[in-house]
Amino acid sequence: MERENCYYLSSTLLVVCFFLLGCSQKKEESVVLKDAFKDAFLIGTAVTADQLLGVDSLGLRVIKENFNSIVAENCMKSGEVQPREGQFNFDLADRFVAFGEQNNLFVIGHTLIWHSQAPKWFFVDDHGNDVSREVLIERMRTHINSVVTRYKGVIKGWDVVNEAILDDGTLRNSKFLQIIGEDYIPLAFQFAHEADPTAELYYNDYNEWHVGKRNTIVNLVKSLKEKGLRIDAVGMQGHMGMEYPSIEEYENAIEAYHKAGVKVMITEWDISALPLASRNVGANISDTVAYKKEINPYVEGLPKDVQAEWEKRYLDFFKLFIKHQDKISRVTLWGVSDATSWKNNYPVAGRTDYPLLFDRQYNPKPVINSIIDLVENKNQK
Ligand code: GLA
Repeated sequence: MERENCYYLSSTLLVVCFFLLGCSQKKEESVVLKDAFKDAFLIGTAVTADQLLGVDSLGLRVIKENFNSIVAENCMKSGEVQPREGQFNFDLADRFVAFGEQNNLFVIGHTLIWHSQAPKWFFVDDHGNDVSREVLIERMRTHINSVVTRYKGVIKGWDVVNEAILDDGTLRNSKFLQIIGEDYIPLAFQFAHEADPTAELYYNDYNEWHVGKRNTIVNLVKSLKEKGLRIDAVGMQGHMGMEYPSIEEYENAIEAYHKAGVKVMITEWDISALPLASRNVGANISDTVAYKKEINPYVEGLPKDVQAEWEKRYLDFFKLFIKHQDKISRVTLWGVSDATSWKNNYPVAGRTDYPLLFDRQYNPKPVINSIIDLVENKNQK
């Protein structure tokens, strides 16, 4: 009899355990990033050309399952879209936008006016001399109008101008500045708004937590608004390292932009787990550093202590973003998997970095569950 009791008890326990296990697995399966953040902000990622071409289909699946907003990593930059004057190549951009529409994602256009990845012809005449201010303004207008009109009503927001300001707050000495002068920025916003009055318009940059840069961006937002131009948000790219920026610097910037009358977006987020390769932090893609073995220490995997520190950094920043969810409308990761992150090659080519939320096999990293717990606990209170 005793034996029967014991048998009965242990099988009941077993059933209860299976039930509980089933419940917890169900929770993990069903709660994904985009659902957890639905009342806070959009949660997005960049889409690569390989994903659009079907080479990286696993990446596409992860995007569909976990994110509700997308931005093109490269295929909408001016050099890609208009490699020669008047010859537009929308093949990848069309695929990108169609993928967003089919999956009901908030689609972001990146980027209209940027000094980098722009075609050489944009700034010169047939003899290779700089064009006049009038010609460059017309080229800007035609480029912006062609691209924005094509996706009118479908692309919900545009990075209109990218990286026009240096860390010290002065304007970058780009061809746009040299040839047109400061007003190329308001002109770009004007042309984008004329092409699609319904689209949100953003100014996007890296290191926007630097005080000099921050103050200039605040003044830019105010002056665009004073001119009656539309600007909806400041995009803070968010290419971070383990040592920079501090939470405080970041928080000050979020508050300053919000106070200037716009939303804040984290638009290209990744946290490199590797040692700093140079003092020149940020994302100026021409600032590269030569490879040395010492600055590529985790080829075989992240040591546990570095992993824990890296996770803490993600959680600390997510805490900050959740705290300021009334000011933040989107948080976009710059890619899905560590395997394809640009950080493996910037600022040093050939390193093994771990900056994203999905590992090299596209498995979700454990930190995702902690992030989900964080937002669920915060938003249920
Ligand atoms: C900048 C640009 C992005 C991308 C990254 C590097 O942040 O805004 O489009 O080129 O550099 O991947």
